[in-house]
Amino acid sequence: MKEKMKIAILASGRGSNFRALAGACQEEGYPAEIALLFSDNAEAGALVFARETGVENIVIDCGPKRGSMSPESSEEMYRLCRERGVELVCLAGFMRIVKGKLLEEYAGRMLNIHPALLPSFKGLHGQKQALDYGVRYSGCTVHFVDAGIDTGPIIIQKIVSVMEDDSEDSLSERILAEEHKAYPEAVRLYAAGRLRIDGRRVLIIDE
Ligand code: GAR
Repeated sequence: MKEKMKIAILASGRGSNFRALAGACQEEGYPAEIALLFSDNAEAGALVFARETGVENIVIDCGPKRGSMSPESSEEMYRLCRERGVELVCLAGFMRIVKGKLLEEYAGRMLNIHPALLPSFKGLHGQKQALDYGVRYSGCTVHFVDAGIDTGPIIIQKIVSVMEDDSEDSLSERILAEEHKAYPEAVRLYAAGRLRIDGRRVLIIDE
């Protein structure tokens, strides 16, 4: 039987994308398994779920600078990932910019999910930005991580209509439902070796 690809998840908050990925990993024939969860927030809901389900979980002190990551924490995460044989790192609501050793070593092997149709509405509160701008459609994007903020090559996008009576919460909820489909799909494609980065584009190779 083919070995499953080991993935590490980085999450700062409630962890619903982590749960969606964990659910997919339980499905028969899914080509990945979660080896490790990191959180920079000791209160994260993601940690509770990891503990309940027996996923190794580590709280990592990423340093005092909000939205950033100390070089030491990046090295430590890299070391742990390498030790556990992690081949893919998935950011799932991780509220810091990944840089340093972890990014260098996992370049092309690190994914992020963003709650907007990139390249629109990068950064924080993508759903509110879309609502405030007045777009008719928004959605979510799974992309490779590069050194920029939400700028890496795009793997999957899913579209959500914006309703006239939408609030930030109602739009976020519908986008989140699509996130929970998009992320497991992207990880499945990656783990099956079906993604090729070609400049800015990501080619999906036929099975
Ligand atoms: C998700 O909507 C994710 O797209 C977003 O944070 C939320 C995390 O939810 N990420 C970003 O905004 C990254 N810039 P979750 O903890 O329930 O997965």
